[in-house]
Amino acid sequence: MDKNAPIGVFDSGIGGLTVAREIMRQLPEERLIYFGDTARLPYGSKSRETVIRFSRQIIRFLRTMEVKAIVIACNTATSYALDEVRKDEDIPIIGVINAGARAAVSATKNGKIGVIGTNGTIDSGTYEEVLREMKPSVEVFGKACPLFVPLVEEGLLHDTVTDEIASRYLSVLKEKYIDTLVLGCTHYPLIRSTIARIMGNEVHLVNPAYETAVQLKTLLKSMEMNRDEGQELLQSEKYQFFVSDMAEKFRGFAISILPDEVKETVKINIEEY
Ligand code: DGL
Repeated sequence: MDKNAPIGVFDSGIGGLTVAREIMRQLPEERLIYFGDTARLPYGSKSRETVIRFSRQIIRFLRTMEVKAIVIACNTATSYALDEVRKDEDIPIIGVINAGARAAVSATKNGKIGVIGTNGTIDSGTYEEVLREMKPSVEVFGKACPLFVPLVEEGLLHDTVTDEIASRYLSVLKEKYIDTLVLGCTHYPLIRSTIARIMGNEVHLVNPAYETAVQLKTLLKSMEMNRDEGQELLQSEKYQFFVSDMAEKFRGFAISILPDEVKETVKINIEEY
């Protein structure tokens, strides 16, 4: 495997850009190919079988780009598909759940951890399973917050509507006296300040996007797969973006998250893979 090959990152749409952003920050020398499945989002309300099928198609596409590793930058796809797709592939594939769970387990003092995510992520029980494997004594409280994704996509990051909905969703977790809360959906770091204000200072928020980039860095280092430093590249070669629909809309959103890195977004037909 070529260590100068790019890293493939995928999500159902724009949310995984929060993971891509962390990878760009923490691994600035790496090349990245991002795919957002904008034609078929949201994944959070789809069945396990469908999310696995979509994930397999995207991985087939990314492999045509000869990526050296893949990051599933979507909590729902990680919950449903990570174990399945790993069986078929011979390159490292990581998701966002393990890294987030590890950070939560090391942060909690009272052993009460909250997890918020899409219906798919919470219903799958994957976070709970992984957290308990890491530390059997923890109590895990999951809460699906399905309206957060459309609120973020509508740009209502600092809005009274978001405050009101967040207060309603999070009240059940406040009643459990959790001291750690996992932001178990790619969109939630974008409303982190609202969630932090409602939960209060005593609750530690875990951003799996950040933790995943840390895990990827460690993985590449251990495999001696870091890209050679000092090899000059054009920005457009370094970061490439593909979507299954609405390329211009995606690009506009991507520019708001990754101001300098998005030159062009290419639409592909993912059903062909
Ligand atoms: N990317 C998804 C996740 O992290 C949220 C958006 C969706 O439902 O597709 O679970």
